[in-house]
Amino acid sequence: MSHQDLADQIAAALKGRRPRAEHKTSEATGCDNPGCARHAGVNSFPHFPSAARSGADFGEAVADAWYKASGSSRMDIPVGIVAALALWPTKTEGATHAGRLASYFAAQPGRVLVQGYGECFAATWMKRPDLLDVAAPITQWTSENLDETLLRGVQAVTRAAVRSGVLHYTGSSDPAFRSTIDLMSWTVTALRHHSSRQGLGEYHTPPDISTTMTRLLTAKGLPQPGQWFCEPTAGTGSMFRALAETLRDHNLDPHDFGWMMQELSPLAAAAAAVNVLVWDLGPRALVACGDTLAQGDLTAAALSHQREMFAHRDRITDVTVFAVATHEANRLLNSLFPSSTAA
Ligand SMILES: C[S@@+](CC[C@H](N)C(=O)[O-])C[C@H]1O[C@@H](n2cnc3c(N)ncnc32)[C@H](O)[C@@H]1O
Repeated sequence: MSHQDLADQIAAALKGRRPRAEHKTSEATGCDNPGCARHAGVNSFPHFPSAARSGADFGEAVADAWYKASGSSRMDIPVGIVAALALWPTKTEGATHAGRLASYFAAQPGRVLVQGYGECFAATWMKRPDLLDVAAPITQWTSENLDETLLRGVQAVTRAAVRSGVLHYTGSSDPAFRSTIDLMSWTVTALRHHSSRQGLGEYHTPPDISTTMTRLLTAKGLPQPGQWFCEPTAGTGSMFRALAETLRDHNLDPHDFGWMMQELSPLAAAAAAVNVLVWDLGPRALVACGDTLAQGDLTAAALSHQREMFAHRDRITDVTVFAVATHEANRLLNSLFPSSTAA
């Protein structure tokens, strides 16, 4: 990519729109960016029924839709779709917008969905680059040129997830409500159970058991603000979901604590990183993907990774501001001296 292209991309991203080059229209066909929602030809969003179903039903619906529509054993794509929908920035009190937004998603072609999910991950990266870096195994597919079969899978999973209530659960502006369920866990475990020919699966602690355990742990005395919690085999973070719920029940703010999740499986660690944001565990909630038994220093590594990623993000922001200023100056100069652009 040339520097000018990069500057265009960065400038467009900062202004919240796609670069001009990707929006160019040809007189015959209209917009030639197949991922562009405005020009994809979907102008109406018929009502699409959606409601919050149980976690088990949710996971089953997503896994079933994925395997039937795509026939693919990839898990990064369906898990990433649920992640993007859960991170979708529109949040309202009581998730009152969820039904309408579900109809919008259900009407979109696969390529539009992929582009939208990619943009959602990019915007979230700007907020917490450390977590989105850990989540890369379930976000990177949005930069691939997916074939038609996988795109059908993207559309089928999107419809299954919104029909089963992902937006109703995660569209609430109240993090306490969003923490009532671990949709990432239900998705990962259902996909693993479906794909395993030996009937072997991945098992996470049932939510009721996690809640009982955290209530027992806190019965003797509540944790003090400033305290750190460590989960050495975190999975998607189900234990921390229950702990955050218990703290909130006692009017304690998860932001006042430190949360360290360590997990061997890159996919589960990626899902845990997404959950940190969905459950709003706060600025001192970290996820490390690694082997707790073999790597004694995962917490220190996660803290240093967080510092590095924030510094990296800040450098990119500085370069971007400079790129936008240069881009605008160039545009103004070109409009003042139009003949110079013809050369
Ligand atoms: C049974 S699951 C439990 C997950 C979670 N703690 C819960 O209660 O729902 C066990 C998790 O531990 C992870 N794990 C196993 N050995 C590990 C290790 N040496 N280091 C980090 N994670 C490990 C597995 O990948 C799996 O996700």
